Amino acid sequence: MTAPRTFTVVGNWKMNTLKEDIDKLSSILNTATIFPNTEVVVGCPSCYLEYARQQLPPTIGVAAQNCFKEAKGNFSGEISPAMIQDCGCEWVILGHPERRMLFQECDELIGQKVAHAQKAGLKIVACVCETKADRDEGLTQQVLAAQMESLAASISDWSRVVVAFEALWASNTGVLATPAQVQETMAMIREWLRQNVSNDVADSTRLIYAGSVSSGNCEELARLRDVDGFLVGSAALKPDIVNILKALQLSASIACTARITATLHCIDDE
Ligand code: PGA
Repeated sequence: MTAPRTFTVVGNWKMNTLKEDIDKLSSILNTATIFPNTEVVVGCPSCYLEYARQQLPPTIGVAAQNCFKEAKGNFSGEISPAMIQDCGCEWVILGHPERRMLFQECDELIGQKVAHAQKAGLKIVACVCETKADRDEGLTQQVLAAQMESLAASISDWSRVVVAFEALWASNTGVLATPAQVQETMAMIREWLRQNVSNDVADSTRLIYAGSVSSGNCEELARLRDVDGFLVGSAALKPDIVNILKALQLSASIACTARITATLHCIDDE
């Protein structure tokens, strides 16, 4: 039997933190309750990787938000997996939708980066996404399959990869994906892994959801069968993150209360 998947929350600070912000966020994270079945990683700007690593406890991972596909060379502005490791960090986020959309990173380049980062020994948050047009035109399955295919061709050790799916149309747009939409899409990705990689990989790979996850919707989303955590942007910059880290436990206690209430109703009805 496959071991339960560790609930994973990746707080992506994007290009929003100076040292003083990292100090504040680190003090929030340092005192937050983190349950043993929850893994926490922050996505940090590359110039502050080492600084963030020093501020945070070793139990919280620090990820770069990108890296290049080569070990070293004349690639101005890029950083390598070895540099990330030299700053004491062991994670990288690759293929983030903002890299795909704003910086025109294509599947091929992302695949090359994933292959190199994995060979170098980094753990990877590998992102896939859909746009509003993809969803409106019924292309979700097709676009995710294409992105997954390119990622899968570059991954040799799935145990060191977390797949993040972002519904771009639900990220800071004022529109939220419904739990049913999230579950359906995450199940699609897991099924893709089952059909194209293996049952083991499908059962063991963590699939995390992104799209305006906050303390308001995290408990409901954490209950979904194919959601193993979250990639959090805006809410990762606020004290809100503390509740998101507890989403699995909160959702379990709500489910438990609901079961008890239902049982009591049954007893009342008898
Ligand atoms: P959001 O960002 O939580 O603000 O939607 C998620 C992400 O893009 O990583």
